[in-house]
Amino acid sequence: MPVIVFVSPKGGVGKSTSAVLLSQELANHADVGLLDGDPNRPLTQWGKGEHKPERLTIYSDVDEENILDVIDEAAQKNTFTVVDLEGTAAKIVLLAVSQADLVIIPTQGSQLDAEQATRGLRVVKQQEKMSRRTVPYRILLTRTSAAIRTRTMTHIIASYAAAGVRVLSTEIVEREAFKAMFSFAEPLSHLDRSQVSNVDKAIANAEAFAAEVISILRETAQESSNQQEVA
Ligand SMILES: Nc1ncnc2c1ncn2[C@@H]1O[C@H](COP(=O)(O)OP(=O)(O)O)[C@@H](O)[C@H]1O
Ligand SMILES: [Mg+2]
Repeated sequence: MPVIVFVSPKGGVGKSTSAVLLSQELANHADVGLLDGDPNRPLTQWGKGEHKPERLTIYSDVDEENILDVIDEAAQKNTFTVVDLEGTAAKIVLLAVSQADLVIIPTQGSQLDAEQATRGLRVVKQQEKMSRRTVPYRILLTRTSAAIRTRTMTHIIASYAAAGVRVLSTEIVEREAFKAMFSFAEPLSHLDRSQVSNVDKAIANAEAFAAEVISILRETAQESSNQQEVA
């Protein structure tokens, strides 16, 4: 069952946030395994909250030594497996990417961030060479403004398109609700709307993200089965 791996060499770009958003959405409809590959265990902390979705299992004991086995176990038990990594240690990233049906590379909308995202892409390309298979990936723009499209962002999106780099059409907008999830150890659905603004918009954003990921997984599964038929 599909394995989705979040990769980015840079910290603070919204990997863990996006991984939690995707996992909690998918867990409304399916069993989801979420691997917390960050030694600081931010997702494990989040999952200690009272309202962790029932169909979401967090795997906390993940390191370079065991990651292939844990992905295997999670993928057998769950419909979706989501892997969040800290992003600096090269080996664990390569190992996780080797198992990925989709790699998501979150990046913020600055030129420097875009350059970091290119490093994430390089990992995907390396893996493709090593394994002689196509590794589907998408860039995910994070922490974008709900109100305005900056010139830098327009330029970055155009540069990705010119370079043939694939970018998700859903962006993760900068929202207080996405921070509040971690502060209160709650899924979006249980945030206190009297204290946190725009929870509904945050939920709609997470739903759109999950829907796009599912449609890409369907598309790539179809492509790979077509390729196998040709072979
Ligand atoms: N879309 C967002 N809206 C608001 N805050 C965000 C968003 N994405 C990330 N953050 C905040 O930015 C910081 C880094 O995000 P995090 O998901 O932990 O990044 P990473 O896992 O890439 O290091 C955290 O404080 C998080 O709450
Ligand atoms: Mg993180």
